[in-house]
Amino acid sequence: MLGIETSCDETAAALVSRDGAGAPRILSSVVLSQVEEHAAFGGVVPEIAARAHVEALDGIVRAALEEADVTLAQVDAVAATSGPGLVGGLIVGAMTGKALAAARGLPFLAVNHLEGHALTPRLSHDLAYPYLLLLVSGGHTQILLVRGLGRYERWGTTIDDALGEAFDKTAKLLGLPGPGGPAVERHAAQGDATRFSLPRPLRGEKRLDLSFSGLKTAMRMAAEAAAPLSDEDVADLCASFQAAAAESLGERIGGALSRFRTELPDLAAPVLAVAGGVAANGTVRAALERAATAHGVRMVAPPLALCTDNAAMIAFAGLERLEAGMTDELGAPVRPRWPLDETAAPRVGFGKRGAKA
Ligand code: KG4
Ligand code: ZN
Repeated sequence: MLGIETSCDETAAALVSRDGAGAPRILSSVVLSQVEEHAAFGGVVPEIAARAHVEALDGIVRAALEEADVTLAQVDAVAATSGPGLVGGLIVGAMTGKALAAARGLPFLAVNHLEGHALTPRLSHDLAYPYLLLLVSGGHTQILLVRGLGRYERWGTTIDDALGEAFDKTAKLLGLPGPGGPAVERHAAQGDATRFSLPRPLRGEKRLDLSFSGLKTAMRMAAEAAAPLSDEDVADLCASFQAAAAESLGERIGGALSRFRTELPDLAAPVLAVAGGVAANGTVRAALERAATAHGVRMVAPPLALCTDNAAMIAFAGLERLEAGMTDELGAPVRPRWPLDETAAPRVGFGKRGAKA
């Protein structure tokens, strides 16, 4: 399976297959980051991203084939991320995938980027369904029950910012270079996490949702009060923010873990899988590990290269779909908004009158 990923600021292609025993194998995974193209703007510029994908994608697909030592004639099917994400980039990736599929008469699979993240623990650990999944990336923070392929129940989601976004905004506020998450983690390693007291949003609330914008605001106020900031101040702010974010996430996932154990009491080996770029953070991982252990659940975290955006996860989701006979027409549209759980209420922010839809 050839997989293509272009939903945000990474141009990626990968080849994935199964070995004789049926276990998934990554033959190649090539990721080109556009970080430098966007650095001067302090965030991803959609139009620049789309153009950079157009320029890079042919070469990245070729590189993935070469790295896998596979020719196009040996590829059985093509999967491309078709949403959610930035529409320009999605069109570039999906059209390239469709063109390859049409030219070679291969099945095409329009893959949901979130499904790619959600199935990654199966790619890395050959995990069995069902499992609880925490997806924490720059664009998404969701708690999902993964019952099977295409069967996802959203139990909780952020009502405002994604956690990765909060890390990125914190870095920007402190003048740290992007990408923000790793920069905050690096500075936090030298800091005192107890110096600034920051809130733990939604603590103790029964619903399983998450919130990070209040934390981000408190962080900004603390930084303004301490200005001008020394290197030590920056390190302490990073450490305090990271500790609050990790503790809050651990508390919120605790509620989901209780529900998981109550609603699926018969699982022999219950698993909490984490995916998305923020799962690369050591403090966040440790907090999640603690929560999982407290509930008798094993935590599974894919290797870092599979936690951040890549095309191996898209190829693997495509492979599972192909095996289940769930191929798509070449007319399949791209979907900038595409929830994994189509039955869950759409949520974009939270206002005085409730969730905005
Ligand atoms: O999954 P991902 O590569 O892209 C999507 O958003 O889909 O996640 C990127 C996000 C960014 O917000 C980045 O700052 C965050 O993951 N991130 C981290 C770390 N590494 C990446 N956040 C905290 N600590 C890290 N070490
Ligand atoms: Zn992602």
